[in-house]
Amino acid sequence: MRDLTSESITDTVIATLDGAKDRRTAELLEALVRHTHAYVREVGPTEEEWATGIDFLTRTGHLCTPTRQEFILLSDVLGVTMLVDAVNHQRESSATENSVLGPFFREDRPEHSHSADISAGLAGTPLFFEGLVTDHEGEPVVGAPVDVWHSDTDGHYDVDVPGLQGTAMRALLRSDGQGGFAFRSIRPASYPIPGDGTVGELMRAADRSLMRPAHVHVVIDMPGFQRMTTTLFPSDDPYLEQDPVFGVKNSLVVDFASHEAGTGPYGNRTDQSYTLLRHTFVLAPDQD
Ligand code: BEZ
Ligand code: FE
Repeated sequence: MRDLTSESITDTVIATLDGAKDRRTAELLEALVRHTHAYVREVGPTEEEWATGIDFLTRTGHLCTPTRQEFILLSDVLGVTMLVDAVNHQRESSATENSVLGPFFREDRPEHSHSADISAGLAGTPLFFEGLVTDHEGEPVVGAPVDVWHSDTDGHYDVDVPGLQGTAMRALLRSDGQGGFAFRSIRPASYPIPGDGTVGELMRAADRSLMRPAHVHVVIDMPGFQRMTTTLFPSDDPYLEQDPVFGVKNSLVVDFASHEAGTGPYGNRTDQSYTLLRHTFVLAPDQD
């Protein structure tokens, strides 16, 4: 282990991992060394640049708290989150595709009954959402737990709506005897991902937009099926082509249909024009 050159150092470091008790751990570490060394050989960072990188990662870690995870956000904007999802979920084409979970899911979300209004009275264009949960053969999935959450008309989740007490625009629902679920809320708006941390610095350095297209998050975690973590986007959103976290897929871009004021689904009257969103979620069978 002496007189190592810029060529021989990589294999020498990798050889030190041979004793790892767990083979998978050794594989993960070996590839990390190989790719990090290749990165250094490719870009040849100056010592100042390397120190800047270390400082960036240090500050990213310091920003993390129980309610803020700057490292996940970094993974999101570098496309790594969606890549990890893609390599883990090679689903048949009929199944609903996954997207980014994001930081706004909350374990303490309220349970709501079928067709409940989950807007907590917030102002906005009424949104009626009617979902159907099926398996890949089109059979309804009954009793599936369905999590939904989304932003308000200003792009704020409930945790960031000034003056709002408690939760809004989020719910745990359950599919009924026909696999259906429904709720009433307000139409979400596009919003920027957090730009006040190290990820914001990176995005500005790359001249990238922070704006996510408007969306509704849906998670269905039903025993016997792969967990589905997805997002639906309105087809008329101006930010679809530049999602900073790379979560947009064609199959998830849908019609948020506008309707004149009147009687909406399940007898709901509204004196405002409203948005109606209907979508079928197809669960993939468990991989085991
Ligand atoms: C979101 O859609 O809630 C989100 C996803 C990734 C990063 C920030 C926000
Ligand atoms: Fe979101």
